[in-house]
Amino acid sequence: MGSQGIFLSFEGIDGSGKSTQARRLADSLRARGHAVTLTREPGGSPGAEDIRRLVLTGDPDRWSPETEILLFTAARRDHLEKTIRPALSRGEVVITDRFADSTRMYQGLRAPALRDTVDRLHELMIGTEPDLTLLVDIDPAVGLARAQARAGDEMRFEDMGLATQAQMRAGFLDLAARTPRFAVIDGARDADAVAADILTTVLARIG
Ligand code: ADP
Ligand code: TYD
Repeated sequence: MGSQGIFLSFEGIDGSGKSTQARRLADSLRARGHAVTLTREPGGSPGAEDIRRLVLTGDPDRWSPETEILLFTAARRDHLEKTIRPALSRGEVVITDRFADSTRMYQGLRAPALRDTVDRLHELMIGTEPDLTLLVDIDPAVGLARAQARAGDEMRFEDMGLATQAQMRAGFLDLAARTPRFAVIDGARDADAVAADILTTVLARIG
């Protein structure tokens, strides 16, 4: 991470409430006087938003698993250079809706044989992890219903279906159990309760 700031990420399956909670956390921290950069992946910088359009729209089989990993990592590199690092060096709290754990899980699930490649490419080209990762955990049936209620043309990953989302949830929980920077948050409560839990967790970790 940068020399002064604090780097927070939200992870979880589609529709778990990450975007809602990232926004609410940003509002709460700003109300407490913190300077906050709220951002998202894929995207979060003009170049990375261009790459987002390449990976999330159009024919789902357009990219091989290898190319897809490179595109997500390229987007992340631009996001890191143009948005995350500058904000951290200004001493801000950076909150990103998804980061490298999403590549580990989504691309790792699409091509299990490439899971190690994802980690190696991350080491080589990104080399940065959040100080704290909030995993918003939810039953996929609830997450999918929420995600489908939200119409749009970015259905590439949300179209995965329940069984795959269940695998994804298990993968995230397994990664969280092995990785100290994670906090697992029960996302199946009303948004106020989830937000309060997250704020307590963040304040306990960042002081
Ligand atoms: P994600 O970013 O994880 O895909 P969102 O924050 O976009 O999830 O939430 C998906 C949908 O569910 C949105 O329509 C949102 O308003 C709704 N939602 C978010 N959190 C809750 C909650 N705690 N209870 C019920 N609905 C929620
Ligand atoms: P996002 O906009 O966060 O979707 P949602 O709000 O539904 O969670 O992310 C778009 C999709 O991109 C999502 O299905 C997960 C996928 N994704 C990857 O496959 N790899 C990645 O590295 C990232 C950041 C996202």
